[in-house]
Amino acid sequence: HHAEAVARSAADSLERLALQARTCRRCPLWEPATQTVFGEGPRDARVMIVGEQPGDAEDLAGRPFVGPAGRLLDRSLAQAGIDCDALYLTNAVKHFKFAPRGKQRLHVRPADPEVFACKSWLDNEIDLLDPALIVAMGATAAQALLGRPVRITHERGTIVQSAHGGGRRRILLTVHPSYLLRLPDADVAARASAQFTRDLAQACDWL
Ligand code: URA
Repeated sequence: HHAEAVARSAADSLERLALQARTCRRCPLWEPATQTVFGEGPRDARVMIVGEQPGDAEDLAGRPFVGPAGRLLDRSLAQAGIDCDALYLTNAVKHFKFAPRGKQRLHVRPADPEVFACKSWLDNEIDLLDPALIVAMGATAAQALLGRPVRITHERGTIVQSAHGGGRRRILLTVHPSYLLRLPDADVAARASAQFTRDLAQACDWL
């Protein structure tokens, strides 16, 4: 507990935390990645959104949710009546994990040890921001936040409580926008996107 308190006090602002994360070597993902992609958003944001990891576009830009999944998230938030500039956006894992395929870099799901290694960054972001609600998008974010495996298909749309950094945290579970982009059937994708928007709309109560 004492060591944790010392580690936590090492960063007194999100800006300082982001600077520290730039040189993170806590897992091997830093090496092939272009850069750390840290969370972004206003210091007084009441809602934090947590994704899985940066994608190809985020890795190059150094900013979260600027690629296709981010655009879908922006559209869904707008439909839910939420101004995305009011939110803090981050990821469970701060480096892009990929497999080279020709000229492309294909997304690879982060392994449990990588999510675990990255967790103190997320914990510190939560402590410093102190959001009223955390939105976990997808199983990786949900597991990182709840400390247990989560089947998103079963629990999506629900708000669960989790002990976090000594306090109780409200966590809204929903799907990841990349999952929606991968659905091959247009009707299925449209229905799933509408449900995603309804899930996100629950965050309005905490804004
Ligand atoms: N997907 C994520 O989970 N996070 C991003 O930042 C981009 C895509």
